[in-house]
Amino acid sequence: MQQVAIITGAGNGIGAAAAKLLAQHGVRVAVLDVHEEKAQLVAQAISQAGGQALSIRCDVGQRAQVEEAIQLVESHFGDITILVNNAGVGGPFHRVDEVSDEEWDWIMNTNLKSVFLFCRNLLPKMKERNYGRIVNIASIQGLLGSAHSSTYVASKHGMIGYTKTIAAEWGEHGITCNAICPGYVDTAMGVRPEDISDYMNRVIAKSPVKRVAQPVEIAQMIDHLVGPHSGYINGTSITMDGGISSHIGITDQLS
Ligand SMILES: NC(=O)c1ccc[n+]([C@@H]2O[C@H](COP(=O)([O-])OP(=O)(O)OC[C@H]3O[C@@H](n4cnc5c(N)ncnc54)[C@H](O)[C@@H]3O)[C@@H](O)[C@H]2O)c1
Repeated sequence: MQQVAIITGAGNGIGAAAAKLLAQHGVRVAVLDVHEEKAQLVAQAISQAGGQALSIRCDVGQRAQVEEAIQLVESHFGDITILVNNAGVGGPFHRVDEVSDEEWDWIMNTNLKSVFLFCRNLLPKMKERNYGRIVNIASIQGLLGSAHSSTYVASKHGMIGYTKTIAAEWGEHGITCNAICPGYVDTAMGVRPEDISDYMNRVIAKSPVKRVAQPVEIAQMIDHLVGPHSGYINGTSITMDGGISSHIGITDQLS
């Protein structure tokens, strides 16, 4: 079966690395991002390397844009077999009482409503073909609380609950759904310029492996979860944080 993937937020970071890796392995990849030029650059790089890619501007929190993007991918590449819900925003560090309605809606729509919009549309079609692979990029902040990131934390906990429920509902139809929980990744989101000195040094000092992850390391796990040897992995959350959440030091205040 020809594999066709939608990867959201694939104009940068983890999504871009996943798009390139899946394309190298023969998957036709739709590179979706709210920033059109970034998506175009990734798709061009894939094409130049001999892969097949289509770039689409899509705000994943907007139902009409999600439905239009899915239609475009289906008409261009055929049936969608892989969905990687990766687009995400962290938002500013705010205490709960400082979070505005607009900030809450922006983070929840981008990180969580998007998963619902894509899954609602694609699951029945995957069921018809008795095959589908869904990977949701959550975070260790989907497993732990984190001061001053309440909305992000809520969205990522929601993503993990949603992952488990899709696994339970749709597994009998040949569809698997799993989450990956990265710790700190060397991307625009994970290692912001203003963080590089003090904050990131403290993160790295607490990490058992004394470094942050590279985007390609997360992409390799995505590649495994959508590949032929992962049919029995369903409804789980795979922590990829170098061990940072496994020891008591993480409970010290980082932010
Ligand atoms: N970088 C980290 O340390 C880290 C850690 C844990 C989890 N994550 C998660 O990994 C995922 C990818 O993050 P990243 O580190 O590669 O970030 P990134 O900022 O490098 O890339 C995210 C991409 O998503 C796009 N995007 C943002 N809002 C969008 C929207 N509404 N519609 C479509 N695209 C949108 C951005 O334009 C960007 O290209 C996110 O869900 C993030 O929460 C990242």
